[in-house]
Amino acid sequence: MNQENAFLPHVIAPKLLKIIESQTPIGKFYKKATYMSLKNEPGSLDFTIGDSHEMPLHGFVEALQKNAIPQKIGWYGYKVSLPETKKIVSEALKKHRGISIVPDDIFMTNGTIVGLAICLKMLAEEDDEVILNLPPWFGYRKMIQSVGANPIGIPVKPQTFDLDLEKIADSITEKTRAILINSPHNPTGKIFSASTFEKLANILTEASKRYGKPIYLISDETFSRIIFDNQECLSPTQFYPYSFLVYGYSKTWMAPGQRIGYIALPETMPNRPEIRSLIGQLQGLYFGWCFPSALMQYALEDLEKLDLNLDKLQAKRDRMVTELQNMGYEVNIPQGTFFLLVKSPWEDDGAFAELLATNYQVFVFPGTPQEIPGYFRLSLTANDEMITQALPKFKAAREEALKIESKTGS
Ligand SMILES: Cc1ncc(COP(=O)(O)O)c(C=O)c1O
Repeated sequence: MNQENAFLPHVIAPKLLKIIESQTPIGKFYKKATYMSLKNEPGSLDFTIGDSHEMPLHGFVEALQKNAIPQKIGWYGYKVSLPETKKIVSEALKKHRGISIVPDDIFMTNGTIVGLAICLKMLAEEDDEVILNLPPWFGYRKMIQSVGANPIGIPVKPQTFDLDLEKIADSITEKTRAILINSPHNPTGKIFSASTFEKLANILTEASKRYGKPIYLISDETFSRIIFDNQECLSPTQFYPYSFLVYGYSKTWMAPGQRIGYIALPETMPNRPEIRSLIGQLQGLYFGWCFPSALMQYALEDLEKLDLNLDKLQAKRDRMVTELQNMGYEVNIPQGTFFLLVKSPWEDDGAFAELLATNYQVFVFPGTPQEIPGYFRLSLTANDEMITQALPKFKAAREEALKIESKTGS
């Protein structure tokens, strides 16, 4: 037990303490107090995470204000997933994704994280294995461990960032309960194709037969409405029946503090009536009332009409890609998400992020803590002014880095 947590055995179950203390790459990064405190100083240009550096979307506040006014008694009583909200989600899935899911198969949650937590808690327990693709969203490992299961990480292919289907197939054992898929993928921005999902479905079907029990697919589709160049973004749940589609509106509205999302069951999922009732029960008192707030459910109809302005986001992506490439950076062009993955001029991405931070007040998220060493990630949720200020600094930092490299010959 480390010094800092010495008092914890009085209040925390030992297994949970062990999980908290097991160091993930992201945990080590967040312990770097200097980096984190510098980031919050005035004048810093923060590109690390997906918090928006602009005012909320036009109409967002009005939707909340309008729906905050009670229209009847009981407006703020205990609420489960509201039928009218589920209907709006069902229509939105059809309109934006071409997916047919009936309202009864939709379960409202407080964002993607809660949907993922419900699926993991329901499916997996002590010593089960859950496969995830690396680099992962930084929350996955601890979420899997927190239900007692072991995360089994499979790196995506290095050049294409596509799923490594062969390695996924090889990693399935009798302990495998589920696989977690994230498309568009944070941080690579990769959208996995229909043929990838078809092959993945075959692998899972085969392995399920081999072990005599279904291996479930949990699909994190939180970025599914942030797609560039009008590309198609398919859901793996449309290829494999034993799947849970998990979504949250945090990214779409760029307002992750005001939370709503859902779990949806594909039409092909067997035993849907039983699963509906199960999720309904678990979501309630068993899992600590994991239903979303009444207000966000009322507001969803108006919020669904908001325009994220993907053209503006894409213009930011194109500007940053072009300018960084012109400076000599190697930039991965994302198909979706609002992240840019850039090759670090130094192999040690943490050291380069530190150089940017300390000498230029520019903050990026290094690749090592995200399990993609040699890169750093930038969030396009920065505003135009920040980008304008940061671009010459990126240029100067790269030049400085290359000079130091040639000086030391390393
Ligand atoms: C891949 C991925 N999944 C889930 C989340 C959490 O989403 P939410 O805020 O909807 O819970 C994030 C947030 O960054 C993410 O990038």
